Amino acid sequence: MIIVNSIKELQQATKNFKSSIGFVPTMGALHEGHLSLIQKARTENDKVIVSIFVNPTQFLEGEDLDKYPRKDEADKKICQLAGVDILFMPSIDMMYEKDELNITAPAIRGFILEGSKRAGHFDGVLQIVMKLLNIVSYNRPSKLRAYFGKKDAQQLSLITQMVKNYFLNVEIIPCDIVRDSNGLALSSRNVYLSKEERTKALSLSRSLKCASKLVMQNKLDSDTIIQEMQEVLREVEIEYIAIVNREFKQISNVIIGNTIILVACRVGDTRLIDNIWI
Ligand code: PAF
Repeated sequence: MIIVNSIKELQQATKNFKSSIGFVPTMGALHEGHLSLIQKARTENDKVIVSIFVNPTQFLEGEDLDKYPRKDEADKKICQLAGVDILFMPSIDMMYEKDELNITAPAIRGFILEGSKRAGHFDGVLQIVMKLLNIVSYNRPSKLRAYFGKKDAQQLSLITQMVKNYFLNVEIIPCDIVRDSNGLALSSRNVYLSKEERTKALSLSRSLKCASKLVMQNKLDSDTIIQEMQEVLREVEIEYIAIVNREFKQISNVIIGNTIILVACRVGDTRLIDNIWI
């Protein structure tokens, strides 16, 4: 595995890559969830590139940018063992100038749910993902495949839209959520949870299980499902529960094959999100 810190080095290293590239952008603190993206990229491509960059523009004032877990040495080992070909770890100065042209998330899909709770977050995500995709796909004859987890469902949807709207030569590959054996969706932020909070955090996946059970019983009314989920989530602070179609429009009834049920909660000081695709 080669570790590169500059765009020039990365492009030099990929110059002779003739075949397909799978790209996994991350903010580091890699866990099994990231590993599953890397493994999928590994099986579907000849070469795999992973980036680690804790992107400051997607953190809002007062969020956890300073304490966001940084585990560079462990991450390097994980990438090495997972068969990554190139690990790209740029600096902030490498990625940003002082006065930048900005990308703004689309008016409706970008400003609901996560977009309303974390105003400006998606602008930062789209800005960095656009940069990374352009850097990695530069001068490639074939479409770059980029891997994103379904856990950040709204992020995935907006990135897919950006790729379409900006005609990028990139295919976005959605990847399934990876969970602990107890159901907790893996997240770099889970390290913030105390033992007690971890137990409470399990109610997020339990509420989604409850929702899918109702759907299996053909109880498809969104209000009813949300009420039942609220009951399961009574020990945590709910930020939102939403039932939307794949275009992120709220729907009053679950449509099998075209629904995402999302939940965002605060458990102590930690904000957690989870969802299921139905
Ligand atoms: O999902 C993440 O880890 C980040 O939002 C991403 C896509 C790497 C952009 O910084």
